[in-house]
Amino acid sequence: MGRTLAIANQKGGVGKTTTAVNLSAALAQSRRRVLLVDMDPQGNATVGSGVVRDNLELSVYDALLDPAAAAAAVVRRESGHHILPARDDLAGAQVELLDMDEQRYFRLREVLRAAGEYDYVLVDCPPSLNILTVNALAAAHGVLIPVQCEYYSLEGLAALTRTIDRIRDSLNKSLVIEGMLRTMHDTRNALSREVSEQVARYFGDKVYRTIVPRNVRLAEAPGHGMPVLAYDMHSSGATAYLALAGEILRKENRA
Ligand SMILES: Nc1ncnc2c1ncn2[C@@H]1O[C@H](COP(=O)(O)OP(=O)(O)OP(=O)(O)O)[C@@H](O)[C@H]1O
Ligand SMILES: [Mg+2]
Repeated sequence: MGRTLAIANQKGGVGKTTTAVNLSAALAQSRRRVLLVDMDPQGNATVGSGVVRDNLELSVYDALLDPAAAAAAVVRRESGHHILPARDDLAGAQVELLDMDEQRYFRLREVLRAAGEYDYVLVDCPPSLNILTVNALAAAHGVLIPVQCEYYSLEGLAALTRTIDRIRDSLNKSLVIEGMLRTMHDTRNALSREVSEQVARYFGDKVYRTIVPRNVRLAEAPGHGMPVLAYDMHSSGATAYLALAGEILRKENRA
């Protein structure tokens, strides 16, 4: 069976979606079967993967309400990662999920069972610890936490790790923190270096060795509906996400 990773941090704009799209593309380039699930009503991972939202007949919203629709909602590609896309109606799904019985936290788990066979499923979470994020954490084997190399970045991490502990106690016994990923790092900036070192000290071997640099190509690529690997494969951003995929794949071989 494949491995499901939730990419989560309730802090906004830390690089969750950039990581979800580009790690998906990098793992797919290594010939892994990859599904990217967009659990954010903003739909940035959908658009950044080149899926035009207006043309969609089904989305993750339909799948959450009826997991039997999951396979039909997946946008498949010849090469690259597949996408279970989000439209803005996903915001409404939160209310409908809350109205369900105790199954409300396990809807995404059902969706993934029905979506097909993948080596990796990456779930892009919204910047909130809401029921969509709880569904992602309940369905995941591990959580990948992007941490922006800036001053306030460490503040929300205690709340996030507490939430992960709670989910492990109640909904998902085997949930682990897969890794902390330092993002938007600027080597010329002393603060950026300091935060990066602090994360490494505090979280030890949970921290990926790969550090994602601040790179304008990463910010430009979504506007072209492409992962950075397709937009500029020689950029420092592309190199970083390939290195991250390498770290994750080496871990797979050790396990
Ligand atoms: N390493 C990077 N270098 C330069 N720009 C980046 C980098 N990573 C992300 N960005 C840009 O920063 C912004 C926020 O990144 P992103 O959308 O990935 O964060 P997010 O955590 O998904 O945000 P949200 O919480 O709103 O979902 C985007 O405009 C993105 O293009
Ligand atoms: Mg996002």
